[in-house]
Amino acid sequence: MEEAVKASAALTECRYTMNPALSPLGEKWVPREARNIASARRFVRDVAADWNAMGDVPEIAELLTSELVTNAMAYGSGDTSTVSPIRITVSGEKELLTVDVHDSCIAVPRMRRAGDLEVSGRGLAIVQELSRNWGWTLNPYGKSVWFQLVAWRRMPGVASAGGGD
Ligand SMILES: Nc1ncnc2c1ncn2[C@@H]1O[C@H](COP(=O)(O)OP(=O)(O)OP(=O)(O)O)[C@@H](O)[C@H]1O
Ligand SMILES: [Mg+2]
Repeated sequence: MEEAVKASAALTECRYTMNPALSPLGEKWVPREARNIASARRFVRDVAADWNAMGDVPEIAELLTSELVTNAMAYGSGDTSTVSPIRITVSGEKELLTVDVHDSCIAVPRMRRAGDLEVSGRGLAIVQELSRNWGWTLNPYGKSVWFQLVAWRRMPGVASAGGGD
């Protein structure tokens, strides 16, 4: 857990130092257990709604988070740290809501081309289809897989939280 806390501090410092326009809106850590996928996706939906993301953005963010957290649980532990928690961050920059799902594995996602009869292999295709941008970013502790949605007409100001900015 100490490692995870250090990772969080470093990532937070790096990201917010490099880009002062980025507003952190929410952060959650969940243990790597499938039952926590539900609370992770509710968290992202609630953060998006709290910050007045428009239209069905909270529900879409919830769905895409579910795919990424499910993947992080399934594939994101690497060889060594099978108990490392998963960190979910939500941030805003200009009109974009960004959700990052951090895991401790340096293997990167690979989009699959699922055939009609295959029951899996569509998660990232759904993320690609419904997001403005998606991708992954390697860091010293593993990686984050992220997506962005157009959520506001302009950047939400902290001072106007809840005020329909
Ligand atoms: N966080 C991750 N870390 C490492 N590899 C990943 C991660 N997420 C996805 N992958 C790789 O990318 C592949 C495609 O992921 P995708 O979510 O599209 O399909 P799936 O998880 O195999 O099936 P489905 O999501 O439909 O149940 C996965 O099979 C896995 O090999
Ligand atoms: Mg998947």
